[in-house]
Amino acid sequence: MRNKERACEECGIYSEKYELSAKTSKEELLSLIETLNKKNSISGILVQLPIPKHIDEETIINAIAPQKDVDAFHPVNVGKIMVGNYDFVPCTPAGVMELIKESGIDVSGKECVIVGRSNIVGKPQAMLLLHQNGTVTICHSKTKNLEEKTKQADILVAAVGIPNFIKGNMIKEGAVVIDVGINRMDNGKLCGDVEFETAEKAAGAITPVPGGVGPMTIAMLMKNTVKAAILNKTQQ
Ligand code: GUN
Repeated sequence: MRNKERACEECGIYSEKYELSAKTSKEELLSLIETLNKKNSISGILVQLPIPKHIDEETIINAIAPQKDVDAFHPVNVGKIMVGNYDFVPCTPAGVMELIKESGIDVSGKECVIVGRSNIVGKPQAMLLLHQNGTVTICHSKTKNLEEKTKQADILVAAVGIPNFIKGNMIKEGAVVIDVGINRMDNGKLCGDVEFETAEKAAGAITPVPGGVGPMTIAMLMKNTVKAAILNKTQQ
């Protein structure tokens, strides 16, 4: 959240932060979202996840006005991504796509393997790669012979949330490896889902943690917010 706030300042985007107590009730949170939904000076709303267990996450996400949903988590925006006609792209998968594009990598016809099927990363990532004509496989905790699948990947996206889960021997020679994992280790250091030291020997291109996908995610949030400002202006 600190980095998001800082990015707003750097971009000249006005922001408000509400640090609520962990004991906040569902009604209080819904009431704040409703206020922000109606507030003309606010273009985008983001509820940082996870939220405390006593509040149903889906209820909260559904309460955010879709035209202010800069995370693109609301079912309306999820549906739009599915059909390929969308205003907002979820920030992390969007950041991954931007890295691929800026590196001059053509997705069309490539074997794309995503490890992780979360609503925030895995599922939307699959759609974005599919829209660019990648051949997409989503792997998860029940996938059999995972290594066989990851070894097929021309583009491998690791979004599983387990430190150093993907090792060098699971990667095809020359593959593009994108590490979405941000895991805090006991020693306080950040670590990705990919074991960088072994993976970089096999990969043709690889993103580090920290410093790879993370900053891109925040950049994409800024992009969605500017989009939301334009969208809300034309709809007012
Ligand atoms: N928690 C982890 N990643 C995200 C994200 O992209 N958006 C929100 N709102 N919460 C998160």
